[in-house]
Amino acid sequence: MDIYGAAYYPEHWDEKFWNVHIKVMKEYGIEWVRIGEFMWSVIEPEDGKFDFSVLDKAINILKANDIKVILGTPTATPPAWLTKKYPEMLPVDWHGQVRGFGSRRHYSVNSKPYKDYALRITEKYASRYGDEIDAWQVDNEFGCHGTTYSFANADLEKFRVWLKEKYGNIENLNKAWGTVFWSQNYNDWNEIVFPINTPTFENPHQMLDIYRFMSDSNIEFLKEQVDIIRKHSKKPITHNFMIDFMDLNYRKMAEYIDFVSWDNYIATKDYDPLRQSANHSLMRSIKHKPFLVIEQQPGRVNWRVTNENFDPEYLGMWTKQAYLDGAFGVMPFRFDQIRFGAEQYHGGLLDYAGRPSKRLEAFSKVKNETSGMIEQLKEIAIYFDYENEWIHRISHVNRNFKYWDAVVEIYKAVKNLGYNAEFVFSDDEIDEYKVMIVPYAKYIPEEFSSKLKRFKGPVFVTAMSALKDQNNWIRERIPHNLIDELGLEVVDFGAIDKENGAIMSQNVDVYYWKEEIDIIDSKVIGIFSDCSPMVTQKNNWYYIGTVLDENGWKIVLSDVLKSRVVGRDFEIAKTIDGYVILNLKKDINVVYLNGEKVELKPFECKKL
Ligand code: GAL
Repeated sequence: MDIYGAAYYPEHWDEKFWNVHIKVMKEYGIEWVRIGEFMWSVIEPEDGKFDFSVLDKAINILKANDIKVILGTPTATPPAWLTKKYPEMLPVDWHGQVRGFGSRRHYSVNSKPYKDYALRITEKYASRYGDEIDAWQVDNEFGCHGTTYSFANADLEKFRVWLKEKYGNIENLNKAWGTVFWSQNYNDWNEIVFPINTPTFENPHQMLDIYRFMSDSNIEFLKEQVDIIRKHSKKPITHNFMIDFMDLNYRKMAEYIDFVSWDNYIATKDYDPLRQSANHSLMRSIKHKPFLVIEQQPGRVNWRVTNENFDPEYLGMWTKQAYLDGAFGVMPFRFDQIRFGAEQYHGGLLDYAGRPSKRLEAFSKVKNETSGMIEQLKEIAIYFDYENEWIHRISHVNRNFKYWDAVVEIYKAVKNLGYNAEFVFSDDEIDEYKVMIVPYAKYIPEEFSSKLKRFKGPVFVTAMSALKDQNNWIRERIPHNLIDELGLEVVDFGAIDKENGAIMSQNVDVYYWKEEIDIIDSKVIGIFSDCSPMVTQKNNWYYIGTVLDENGWKIVLSDVLKSRVVGRDFEIAKTIDGYVILNLKKDINVVYLNGEKVELKPFECKKL
């Protein structure tokens, strides 16, 4: 990897400590820092009065010591004087309550005064530091702490404009939203409000537009900042995405940035390492390019209910896992550990006295094992769409079903069979993959279903797929547009909890959703416990009329993917030169790869 770094907050220290910190950075191979993303009130202590002295000095000293700098725009932390002056810029939550000043991210992304000030400080940052620094981060974690959604007046006004642009006239909107149901017809755009605190279920077509609008509003704000930065700098721009986070259409957002970064906070006592890998792979798949882990959980955090400590060696292992999954860098959050502030219990790479911690040692030690880059071969593609996550959230047959969780089960099955998994989006080309999986994709745009029809390899389509249209209406016939290919029609469906089924005479557990399938010309290869068709095959097309867990998926997929590897607690990737295997255990481990025994030392990352 190229980037070994950490988040650093010079403004939290008396200047005399900076040299001490930098000395430790140099000693332990920290070559990059990300700074500045929460400094608004330091830089602009009063409206229009700018003081860059702290940031200037910090950047100078870092540069003088050959430490590269990613500079974050400080727009996630608007100062007290600004919220006092424009209280209407504060966001309003799902209950209609204003979210106040006193932590961070207290802004509505559609507030004009907020934006004017945010873009002014962005311009100040960009014009002052231009190409002097090495990369840019825009804002910090859009949508974090539930802030994707705001229902303030400014948001509503913007929403009406967005709707007008989309539908042209109010009749089109009434039709698309099916407003005749429960008497919701609108005569005028100004009658439209956000359905917050409603007595019962909201209009599902309106809700989908709200999710789209809120995501678009954040993307627009990112783009406005990016445009300003680009006027002054040629340096690459990123934004830090989040784990398991589905409120924002990251695929769409990433069009405007140069590389994807994300903040990896997954580890709890019983976390699932392959879920971490699924997140890495999603981030890699957004641009189908290497990505940066711009924040890596160092060990203990402060914001969970119980914040356990980890053996410091875990930080080394997480770094290796990011590498295996295609990262070009890892930056633990944070370098300096501090005694004050809302994150005073958060672990860092230093201890509270500023001495190197065992975490720093463990991190710096893995450099050799993570040199170069791992490029995974394109093998199995899993179709993914942020809009589908929103559609799943809205009206439901089984509220316990969670789209991303169910997709992660498939990811784990593919990985544990020893194959690489990549996520693909509607506008991706898919010819190079060997197998396509289209899971729980309630809405499949025409653009993508025609690609599927041209695809040469096996295609696995599941329950709920192609059930809806772009306005979130249910289709007349299901799976829409794929009935001929799959050789079946879904004629009814309903929720289940957990039941048994059988696939090719092996028992499997099935969950959440059961379909009644009319066979046209496909072959039944799996049945529900009442002997009705559950899994079918027609040529290269497979259909699964329910939700499977990892084990069920392994069985279905083994019809086309012969297991390459046997073992536990490992992650494997196939590259052009062979395989890379990571031992996820802090013990000796043994796996069999294509029948050959492979011995792995604790947390070892081995190339074969
Ligand atoms: C991230 C955030 C950081 C810090 C960190 C603590 O979500 O970007 O600023 O708060 O969490 O774990």
